[in-house]
Amino acid sequence: MENKIHQIEQEALAEIEKATDLKSLENVKNKYLSRNSEFNNLKKGMKDIPNEKKPLIGSLLNKVSQKLTSLIDEKNQIFYQKELNEKLLKEKIDITLDGEYIPQGHVHPLSQTINEIVDIFNYLGFSLIDPKLSPEVEVEKYNFDLLNFPKEHPAKDMQDTFYCTSAKNVILRSQTSNAQAREMMNTKPPIKIISPGRVYRNESVSARKNNLFHQIEGLYVDKNVTMTQLKGVLNEFIRLYFGSSRPTRFRSSYFPFTEPSVEIDVQCIMCQGKGCPTCSNTGWLEILGAGMVDPNVLRGVNIDPEVYSGFAFGMGVERLTMLKYAIDDIRLFFNNDERFLKQF
Ligand code: PHE
Repeated sequence: MENKIHQIEQEALAEIEKATDLKSLENVKNKYLSRNSEFNNLKKGMKDIPNEKKPLIGSLLNKVSQKLTSLIDEKNQIFYQKELNEKLLKEKIDITLDGEYIPQGHVHPLSQTINEIVDIFNYLGFSLIDPKLSPEVEVEKYNFDLLNFPKEHPAKDMQDTFYCTSAKNVILRSQTSNAQAREMMNTKPPIKIISPGRVYRNESVSARKNNLFHQIEGLYVDKNVTMTQLKGVLNEFIRLYFGSSRPTRFRSSYFPFTEPSVEIDVQCIMCQGKGCPTCSNTGWLEILGAGMVDPNVLRGVNIDPEVYSGFAFGMGVERLTMLKYAIDDIRLFFNNDERFLKQF
């Protein structure tokens, strides 16, 4: 047994001596010190050694095992350093090189405008409507009837509104005002919400009109809501959205669901009010319709118009974006032309 141990020791020492790198040293370690090595098998054979010889053989095995382990570790350290130094010399990084350009996508200009407007109205105390109360696929009742549209109103005509051919009364909403009645039936006043989204109109497409576009609806219902507040809120919105320098005007108008009604125009950015094709030579562009909620609408959703009043407004997102950035064709928003989108 002792001879066998010494023999293995000599062999192992010779092989450690011969090892030239981490890999070959690892092989030696496996061969002599791993669990299945011959040396380890000798340790397992201890139980067959006569008792009086056990201390001697045992300590010899330990001594040799420790000696081999520390020799291998020592050499391992040297090889590791050597290989690391070689690697560091070879793999130099030039930190002055330019980084690789990774193009990044970004938010669509219309979504940017919506986000901006939502932020402004949040600041003015309006919160976002629950999207469930603002569906794009709608029934006539919410888009028209509860908004005080007479049965024969021209907007209800197939030429203006997209009707579903397989289900009666189902339409693509023509205005975000569809959210008004839903919100008022769902929530007791005070109500102060905005509702952004897509709307659809059966119109011929041109530089100024698309049959899909975006609106942001606003609705404020409480005791003692006044027209002055409506003006104040919308003027403040315009100031915050455009900066203070844009001339605007309030014009009286008509909507079935507001009384009195107004429209707000902003001076045309293309011609600075002088008149051009974009503004049909008027010098002004309409950005929103608004007014005091008609008492008939309040009654229709069981809110007492003697106690409560409200105002509503609906603005065109494309128009507002075109006016801010001097974009002269609405179709640019929908063509997905990167040369256009990249500029935002
Ligand atoms: N829904 C109207 C439109 O699409 C705008 C509007 C909204 C007017 C709210 C008054 C009140 O033209």
